Amino acid sequence: MKGMNLKEIDTEKFQHDLLEWYKREKRDLPWRKERDPYKIWVSEVMLQQTRVETVIPYFERFMEKFPTLEALSEAEEEQVLKAWEGLGYYSRIRNLHSAVKEVKEKYGGKVPDTLEEMTSLKGVGPYTAGAVLSIAYGKPYPAVDGNVMRVASRILSIWEDIAKPASRKIFEEAIHRLMYTEDPSSFNQALMELGALICTPTSPSCLLCPVQEHCHAFEEGVQEELPVKTRKKSMKLVHIGAVVLKNKEGKFLIHKREATGLLANLWEFPNFEMTSFLDPETRLRKLLEETYKIDSLIHNGTFAKIQHVFSHLTWDIDVYAGEIQNEIPEDERVKLVKPEEIQDFAFPVSHQKIWKEYKRTIRE
Ligand code: ADE
Repeated sequence: MKGMNLKEIDTEKFQHDLLEWYKREKRDLPWRKERDPYKIWVSEVMLQQTRVETVIPYFERFMEKFPTLEALSEAEEEQVLKAWEGLGYYSRIRNLHSAVKEVKEKYGGKVPDTLEEMTSLKGVGPYTAGAVLSIAYGKPYPAVDGNVMRVASRILSIWEDIAKPASRKIFEEAIHRLMYTEDPSSFNQALMELGALICTPTSPSCLLCPVQEHCHAFEEGVQEELPVKTRKKSMKLVHIGAVVLKNKEGKFLIHKREATGLLANLWEFPNFEMTSFLDPETRLRKLLEETYKIDSLIHNGTFAKIQHVFSHLTWDIDVYAGEIQNEIPEDERVKLVKPEEIQDFAFPVSHQKIWKEYKRTIRE
């Protein structure tokens, strides 16, 4: 820490100013309507890496489909992935689905209320555990994500690199010392709300900030320099050739991805990493033959080019259309489906775009 330190914060006044502001200004969000630990948990998992506005409709649809922990624990993975389709970071939902099953079996369906039990569940780290335990059960644990680290780094003038995993503990300790133990739920959510509405990544609205008088970064004029966050190494670019293939009955070939790894168990149009750009149509024809025993006819030229940016890599997808000339066997991971059935399968966003472009551009 540089400059002033924690001792110089008037904790009681800080809590008072923050919470009064939160009571006045908090957004009316669907997961704030009740304190059902299951619903809080789902909302917190959705809110990791995804913006509030995007999450709201997903949360509401998810709760219609799976209104209770029991309902989710009994649901088919396929249905659950479909409800998550488009939210990204699909390991979050697979882990949540396993964790919920474990809660059903081991804890009789009641979401655990201790840190130890909560963090033993699949995919539940200190952030999710802290958020659920504080918001649903009123326990005084911090819930420190990137937004809360940004807020805390400014208020307390903490110059640790927030990109380093080891820094989170430092922030957790700092937040723990500021914790309003009478109402940890409002305290944690107030910090999140401050990060979303006032203490934004760029151009924070310090003049409107309810805790401006407590903020060390503001006093030092360094709010734009905080938090310290080192750049990630440059992203990998992967060139992909994808094909929308139709058979003689007008059905389309879809493939289920591997059970582990990126976008696990989601459906996709057949696609391959392309290492050379020499005659991609011929190359794709050969790969389809080797992989799926398909005798295909690939139309010349792409009908779409799609880019999808993940956190660690970017896909540049050239999309082709073609026909299947032979009979091919279907199995668990390779299906021929009617166009109106496509919507029943969970696809990654990039492949939803492929389908949308196909329908828009290929008129037969
Ligand atoms: N971001 C993460 N958790 C949140 C919550 N409970 N409310 C608003 N934004 C959030």
